[in-house]
Amino acid sequence: MLIKTKKQIPSSEITPESVYRNRREFLKGSANIAMGVGAIGSGLLSPGALAQDGLMARAPTDLNLASKPQWLVDKVRNRADAPASGPFTTDEALTPFEDATTYNNFFEFGTGKGDPASRSGGFSIDPWSVEIAGEVNRPGTYTLEDILAPHAFEERIYRLRCVEAFSLVVPWIGFPLADLINRFEPNSNARFVEFETLYDPEQMPGHRQRLSSLTWPYREGLRMDEAMHPLTIMVVGLYDDILPTQNGAPLRLMVPWKYGFKSIKSVVRINFRRDMPPTTWNDYASNEYGFYSNVNPNVSHPRWSQAMERRLPSGLFDRRIETQMFNGYADEVAHLYQGMDLREYF
Ligand code: MTE
Repeated sequence: MLIKTKKQIPSSEITPESVYRNRREFLKGSANIAMGVGAIGSGLLSPGALAQDGLMARAPTDLNLASKPQWLVDKVRNRADAPASGPFTTDEALTPFEDATTYNNFFEFGTGKGDPASRSGGFSIDPWSVEIAGEVNRPGTYTLEDILAPHAFEERIYRLRCVEAFSLVVPWIGFPLADLINRFEPNSNARFVEFETLYDPEQMPGHRQRLSSLTWPYREGLRMDEAMHPLTIMVVGLYDDILPTQNGAPLRLMVPWKYGFKSIKSVVRINFRRDMPPTTWNDYASNEYGFYSNVNPNVSHPRWSQAMERRLPSGLFDRRIETQMFNGYADEVAHLYQGMDLREYF
């Protein structure tokens, strides 16, 4: 993975959680009012309203989507969050929306950090389907609505630590992957779960590149117990809205104790397997990107240290902080790797 140029964003733009929370209350109230006149949210999410609390440095866009499925927008906005606690939230300052949506890795749209936002306009998520395959009792191809309908969405504020040593704090909206897995009834042979991103050369310029070093579609995988862990979620939104294309619309994985590349975007296939699945970055360089890829400050990447990270937004002076074991989620997940040499199983 390449480390690209830094953006010059003053650290004063870091959004304190209280500001974001206030905005959320504001939006909830607005949506309730709007429901009375039959126009949920629309018009109320005006650039003016968002600019007021300084959350966005730019007007909200169409999130680089050809269209926003209204049922999904409504389901995301009208969720009833239980008060998040423990590892499901953090009081660290949120990464501003602007940075979380313009400094991305989504190699299907290019290798530059700005490429996913600037090159993914008009991406179509409607219709969208997800194939459930392999060692399950209920395989099949399901529409996005079938996949999402039974799940109540909730907000999770997680740290995301990229293997390239930058990190973010993002208010994701999603639901536990375990709940989805249980619905499709994996059988006793299922020891791993494999995920695949959409393959679509027409919409994804990275797929059209002749000399791409990555093999497509982008693939990732988890051990079954990792997939079933309560911290592992499927994400459908961030910052109170559905996912922009560049963050993995309409559905992505989020495994907060692993390097960011495990959190695969724009998922179209979930395959239950007996054996460990091949994964994109491991195929590319198995000595650099292991299957487990748990955040570990004590095991360097062959080309750089993982002891520190740069917390977005970057400014004139980078905010460098110490990387935590398992990205700060050790109490919850360390037991999954008991007895394993994490230098060998990196
Ligand atoms: N998923 C796909 N399909 N393609 C990608 O290139 N990049 C990964 C991960 N998921 C990637 C992907 C990497 S390297 C990171 S750090 C995170 O997405 C970044 O997520 P974000 O852009 O929402 O911050």
